[in-house]
Amino acid sequence: MKFFIDTADIQEIRQAASYGLLDGVTTNPSLIAQTKRPFKEVIREICAAVDGPISAEVVSTDFEGIKREARELRALHQNIVVKIPLIMEGLKATRWCAEQGIKTNVTLCFSPLQALLAAKAGATYISPFVGRLDDVGHDGMELISQIVQIYDNYGYETEVLVASVRHPLHVLEAARAGADVVTVPFKVLNQLAQHPLTDLGLAKFLADWQRVPSEA
Ligand code: E4P
Repeated sequence: MKFFIDTADIQEIRQAASYGLLDGVTTNPSLIAQTKRPFKEVIREICAAVDGPISAEVVSTDFEGIKREARELRALHQNIVVKIPLIMEGLKATRWCAEQGIKTNVTLCFSPLQALLAAKAGATYISPFVGRLDDVGHDGMELISQIVQIYDNYGYETEVLVASVRHPLHVLEAARAGADVVTVPFKVLNQLAQHPLTDLGLAKFLADWQRVPSEA
């Protein structure tokens, strides 16, 4: 399973990349706004820090506008994946991008039928938002299982990118469901390595090591 980080914070991205576990980055307009910096400047910096797919989102909602933004974003760097909202105009633009060889990440997916349409449109990635579904009392991870099954049934190559991840259990369930990618906040990435028994065990090993006589 590929691990992307879901942030536009360059310090977090650089630290995550230093672990050697990072395959790519996803951003969205809200994450870019948090940086208080110009969009393209942030995206260029991320592309220089991570050699992998970098999702940059359009803000147009009409076919022509999305096409224009997709061309501009793709011109920034070869690793850019154009993130497009799951609306009809967005699906039309996704089809156009596929024909142009521009990679896409279709975002704001909340149903299996939306995911089916994105795959038919030729999306490179589909981003179902599990945390936001959980927030409104729906089972986000059930959506992942349904999408994986539907894509397997028909051999769609669109990769299932689990988004809106809130905690390590989402990552575990994504892996069990056979998702291709999970995009995680920096905090969750670090939580994945943590276990109290690891800390306790390490403390005991290091304490016991103090009783080992030094070499003669
Ligand atoms: C997906 O690519 C989005 O950037 C992100 O995962 C949304 O997460 P949120 O629901 O925590 O805002």
